[in-house]
Amino acid sequence: MNKKITVLPGDGIGPEIVAEALKVLNKIGERYAHSFTYTYVDIGGCSIDKHGVPITDEGMELCKSADSVLLGAVGGPKWDNCPPAIRPEKALLAVRKELGLFANLRPTKLFPQLSDASPLKQEIVGGGIDLLIVRELTGGVYFGERKTEQVNGELVATDLMPYSEHEIERIGRVAFETAIKRGKRLASVDKANVLDTSRLWRKTMHKLAEEYTEVEYSDILVDNTAMQLIKNPTQFDVLVTENMFGDILSDEASMLTGSIGMMPSASLGSGTLGMYEPIHGSAPDIAGMNLANPIGTILSVAMMLRYSFDMAEEADVIETAVNAVLDAGYRTQDIMQDGCTKVFCTEMGDLITERI
Ligand code: IPM
Ligand code: MG
Repeated sequence: MNKKITVLPGDGIGPEIVAEALKVLNKIGERYAHSFTYTYVDIGGCSIDKHGVPITDEGMELCKSADSVLLGAVGGPKWDNCPPAIRPEKALLAVRKELGLFANLRPTKLFPQLSDASPLKQEIVGGGIDLLIVRELTGGVYFGERKTEQVNGELVATDLMPYSEHEIERIGRVAFETAIKRGKRLASVDKANVLDTSRLWRKTMHKLAEEYTEVEYSDILVDNTAMQLIKNPTQFDVLVTENMFGDILSDEASMLTGSIGMMPSASLGSGTLGMYEPIHGSAPDIAGMNLANPIGTILSVAMMLRYSFDMAEEADVIETAVNAVLDAGYRTQDIMQDGCTKVFCTEMGDLITERI
C-alpha cells in the first residue's frame, strides 16, 4: 500500500520524537512492502517564526489532502506572549477543527515492566491499568465564543462552552462502539449537577445507552472521576467526556503509567483521515538534548496504522517491539528504574526499530 503522511514535527522535542517514530514506520514499510511518503509542514512556534502564522493555508491544505497526519508537539515559552490569534496552540486546534477530528482516543496502559514507575502504590496499580479516554475534540469551551471586555471599570473575560445534540451523539457513538470492542463498560463523565451542557450531554448519552444494551453504562461526575482515577483506576474501561474535562483527565490518567511520555493518541473524524500525536507537550526544558521519550509518538504511529490504514498486524508488531525493548530493560530518563539501562531518545528509536 501507498500512503501519504503529512508530518508536523512542531516545536521543542517534537522534531526529535517524530524522527524516531518515522524510523519505526520506515522499517514497517520495508518489512511489509508499503510505501509511506512524507510531506513536512511547519506548525506552532517554528511556523510563527518563519511564516508569521502558526500554520499556513498551504500547510493546512496538505493536512486535509493527506491519508494521515503525524504531529510532534507545539508551543514553548518563546511564544507565550504571542497574541491569542497566532499562538502555537491555535494551529493545533485549527487542524482538529478543519479536518473534522471530533473524537480523540487516549489509551492509558500501564506496561507491567513499568509498574514501579507509577507514582501510585503497587496495590492500586499492580492489577494493571488499561483504560481509554474518549475525548470530544472539536466543541465546547475550546471553540466557543470568547472575549475580554471592560465592564464597570474592570476587565471581564468570558469563554462560552456550547454543545449541540449532534456533537454529543456522534462522540457518544464512538465511545459505545469502542466499548463494545473492549471491556463493554462505559462511564460518561460530566458535571450535570451544575452545567447545562452536561445535562444535555447526560440526556443524549442515556438515549444511546438504550440502544447499546450490551454496554454496561454509568454516569460519573468529573470531580469524582478525578478522585477515582487515583483511588481505584482499575474500575474503568472506557470513559467518554467533553473537550476540556478530557484534556485534564487524560493528563491525570497518564501519570498512572509512570510517564506522560508513554501515551499516544488518535484524533478521528467520520472518514479514515486521522491525526496522531503523543499527548505530552513540547518539553522545552529538554529540547535538543536527545533525552525525550519517543515511545508515545511511536505508539501513535501504531494507532495510525490500526485506525487510518487498517493495518492491524503492523500495529501489533510495533506494540510488541516496544514491549520487547522494555522487557530488555532499556529506559529513557523519564522512566528510568534501578537495574535498567538508560538510553537516549535516538537509541530508544533504534532499539525499537531493530525489533520490527
Ligand atoms: C492536548 C494539549 C492541547 C489541548 C493544547 C496544546 C492546546 O494539551 O492535546 O491535550 O489542550 O488540547
Ligand atoms: Mg492536554
